[in-house]
Amino acid sequence: MANATSNITRPTIKSWGFVLMVLFFIGLCGTYRKNFMKEPTVQSAQPPYTILNRTFTSEGACEAKRNFMFVKVHKAGSTTANCIFQRFGYEHNLTFVLPVIRSDVGWPNLLRQEDFIPSADGTYNVLVDHTVYNRQLLDHLMPPDTMYIAILRQPLSHLRSVFNSYHLVKKMRGLQRSDPVASFIKSPDQFHVPYVKALSHTREPYTLAKNYMAYDLGFPLGLSDSQSSIDEYIETLSREIDLVLILEHMAESLVLLRRMMCWTLKDILYNVAPKNLKKYKKTPMSTALLKQHRRWSNVDYQLYDHFNATLWQKIQREGADFPHEVRHFQNVLNQTAIFCTKAIMKVPKIELNLTAGKLTIPKTTWHEEFDIDSTLCLKLKMEWHDWSHVLKKTHKMPPNLSSGFRRAISMTNTRVLDKSLLLNIFHVD
Ligand SMILES: *[C@@H]1O[C@H](CO)[C@@H](O)[C@H](O)[C@H]1NC(C)=O
Ligand SMILES: *[C@@H]1O[C@H](CO)[C@@H](O)[C@H](O)[C@H]1NC(C)=O
Ligand SMILES: *[C@@H]1O[C@H](CO)[C@@H](O)[C@H](O)[C@H]1NC(C)=O
Ligand SMILES: *[C@@H]1O[C@H](CO)[C@@H](O)[C@H](O)[C@H]1NC(C)=O
Ligand SMILES: *[C@@H]1O[C@H](CO)[C@@H](O)[C@H](O)[C@H]1NC(C)=O
Ligand SMILES: *[C@@H]1O[C@H](CO)[C@@H](O)[C@H](O)[C@H]1NC(C)=O
Repeated sequence: MANATSNITRPTIKSWGFVLMVLFFIGLCGTYRKNFMKEPTVQSAQPPYTILNRTFTSEGACEAKRNFMFVKVHKAGSTTANCIFQRFGYEHNLTFVLPVIRSDVGWPNLLRQEDFIPSADGTYNVLVDHTVYNRQLLDHLMPPDTMYIAILRQPLSHLRSVFNSYHLVKKMRGLQRSDPVASFIKSPDQFHVPYVKALSHTREPYTLAKNYMAYDLGFPLGLSDSQSSIDEYIETLSREIDLVLILEHMAESLVLLRRMMCWTLKDILYNVAPKNLKKYKKTPMSTALLKQHRRWSNVDYQLYDHFNATLWQKIQREGADFPHEVRHFQNVLNQTAIFCTKAIMKVPKIELNLTAGKLTIPKTTWHEEFDIDSTLCLKLKMEWHDWSHVLKKTHKMPPNLSSGFRRAISMTNTRVLDKSLLLNIFHVD
């Protein structure tokens, strides 16, 4: 840990207020930096070592990346990826930027220093909770070699998820009950609440049912009608974000992530049972309505189309063994799920089944042999709340931490873990 952070030189957060003011005006005027270099030309690289920012030691082994930021886009299936990142950070003793309030690091506003819990040495490796992506601010907080990762979901499927999670049927009066999402898309202006202000701590307006993914990615929604602003923003993001995961192609996205980060297959395992599963009615939508939604959430669709296309371009460049690794990964996920149903007992409370032994995954061209045991099964089962609790309890804090931050740390709770598991597995209370 000490080694990982000591060699990081990063600007201290000195002129924070000034930066915020500058950003405010930048946001206000809607101007962007235009002075970007051209995107590096894509060579028909030989797999697997020539692309995706991988660095290799003299032995040819690749060095795992430990500094990363995940733009946790709301309702885009980011929970799965988030738990992978939290687990990786925990296992590698990394320092997280941890939210003071719920899972929001400043969101829906721009990040401020009082939105996260300080760390002992003032440096951070990982940020994975909700924050509005703003590269200038993040550059002041994260190390220079931070890898930036985001996630996107097919916008109609995303809208359905938003409808369910935020109970929009109750909030938008007059929607047809038989198919509220279609009814909304037919005449969105009639129902849409243009800007939402949350009950607490919010000044920036955001919106739920239009370009909501773009908001999390830092696009100023007031510019949604300006095609040149959208083009420019997408160009900027594709230069700044190292990998955008696509929910509809999660296995491919994660294998790409693994290769880009030089992580192991074990690192990207997850609980295949979706955590935020909520059922919603799914009736096929007419072509006309699909087109209408595309016009309505125009920025989200363009982001999605662009980054799905670039995901597949990246996959192409990975070479012939990529689909084999994806299939292998799915197979391991499958075996893990089956093993873990036995390795964890659920009645009356969650406990490890110590007689379950372990599942050994033999060495392949992509990884060494590794074991899956009941402790790993438990870690895969843990939800965001559990990880957040553990990470807050193990966070290395400055000695003079103010009482407000101390309160934030004491106010967490867990979903899956109980006191004895917290103590026995994580040595925290
Ligand atoms: C990734 O590689 C590109 C092109 O080689 C480079 O411009 C960029 O700075 C690298 N990103 C990181 C995080 O190292
Ligand atoms: C993390 O810290 C623990 C306890 O200090 C140590 O045993 C472990 O080896 C560390 N892990 C890594 C990956 O550095
Ligand atoms: C993403 O792009 C690929 C390659 O063009 C395409 O086959 C796939 O259908 C797209 N995925 C979605 C969900 O649109
Ligand atoms: C695991 O794979 C088997 C056969 O390939 C399949 O029938 C089963 O549905 C899969 N189970 C899970 C949990 O994905
Ligand atoms: C514990 O694991 C053993 C060995 O796999 C299995 O036979 C047993 O049914 C498991 N116990 C429970 C309660 O799942
Ligand atoms: C805590 O100590 C550090 C270093 O001594 C100092 O920079 C910081 O202002 C202090 N914070 C508080 C809240 O007193």
